[in-house]
Amino acid sequence: MLKTNQEGTLPPLTIKGKKLRYPIIQGGMGVGVSLYPLAQAVAREGGMGIVSSACLDRLVIKRTGKKVNAYEAAYTEVAQAKASGGYAGINIMCALARDYEDSVRGALDAGADAIISGAGLPLGLPAIQPAKDTALIPIVSSGRALELICKKWERLGARPDAVVLEGPLAGGHLGFRMDQADLAENRLENLLPEVKDAAKKFGDFPIIVAGGIYTHEDILRFLAMGADGVQMGTRFLATEESSATEAYKDAVVRATSEDIVLAHDPGSPCGLPFRVIRQSPMYVSAMQHKRKPKCDKGYVLLKDAEGKFTRCPAKESNEHHFCICNGLLSSAGYNSDVEEPLYTVGTNASRIQEIVTVKTLMQELTGAKTLSSTAK
Ligand SMILES: Cc1cc2nc3c(=O)[nH]c(=O)nc-3n(C[C@H](O)[C@H](O)[C@H](O)COP(=O)(O)O)c2cc1C
Repeated sequence: MLKTNQEGTLPPLTIKGKKLRYPIIQGGMGVGVSLYPLAQAVAREGGMGIVSSACLDRLVIKRTGKKVNAYEAAYTEVAQAKASGGYAGINIMCALARDYEDSVRGALDAGADAIISGAGLPLGLPAIQPAKDTALIPIVSSGRALELICKKWERLGARPDAVVLEGPLAGGHLGFRMDQADLAENRLENLLPEVKDAAKKFGDFPIIVAGGIYTHEDILRFLAMGADGVQMGTRFLATEESSATEAYKDAVVRATSEDIVLAHDPGSPCGLPFRVIRQSPMYVSAMQHKRKPKCDKGYVLLKDAEGKFTRCPAKESNEHHFCICNGLLSSAGYNSDVEEPLYTVGTNASRIQEIVTVKTLMQELTGAKTLSSTAK
């Protein structure tokens, strides 16, 4: 069943003067799913590998036994992701307010090829520290959000080096309210024209589309529609190099389309819809209101009455929230013996049939090889 074509058929993608062999960015996957082993493998195969900064200090401490802070964790992980060549960067979510600036500084000092930032609007990102050769890439879900960011960045003397447009089929948090996620106008292909228009107004830069892209043909289709590249998460979650636990990967292979749901109430303390496999132990407990309110990590913080980032809704009540920090850390093998895991995936996880290597996946995505195993 293998159709081979050594080179593949995708064009390169240039971001801030750096030419990726393939227009494929492996999306940042927190907590602890995209760490340096995955990002390094993707970078080696000609895409861009992205580590996630979420709770990274704990994960690096566990791996190395050395005490590190958020700055040092971002620095170390980016440096290792780049160690065997190719391009690699980091995903830093605005929602992780406490560590945001330190993570950005660590990544910049380590020479990250890109900082990709969403889960909120990264309005102040260019002001933190000069970016030098690092591409600054916001994630948006509408042309309006991109315009807001560009206007603010213009006042800071900056412009996005590319933008990720993420549609409602993605894994992790969505940039849509529950009632917006299924609207035809919010399909990725329908959002692309407005985001292209917004990018053109501010000097034109590459547009990377994300959410529900699964096959080589999907990539070709979006390139033909005018995208410059794709960001993919779920396919890379299901690789040998991703740092998800075996139980997480098994749950992905077993998941059917009915098993993949948008959690909202109870949902993430960020308040954004969050896509999960409904059998995830933490989600099951949350639905049954079994779990005691608990947040002893404090990465996801909201502003208090004085405008300071001190509150985590998951600490206050279990009525409407589960604790994503503990759930996702557990899914990456941290405290798995005491915490219930929470498995986040994109809609297309139901199509995954087996765990493959990054090399095999990249051969399929670039059109160099067709796998027989990926269509359920
Ligand atoms: C397991 C998982 C974790 C994710 N974590 C993050 C994250 O921490 N920050 C972020 O901006 N996006 C996150 N995403 C979104 C991905 O980076 C990517 O944009 C998205 O998954 C693309 O959709 P796809 O999964 O259909 O390919 C996550 C996705 C998955 C599947």
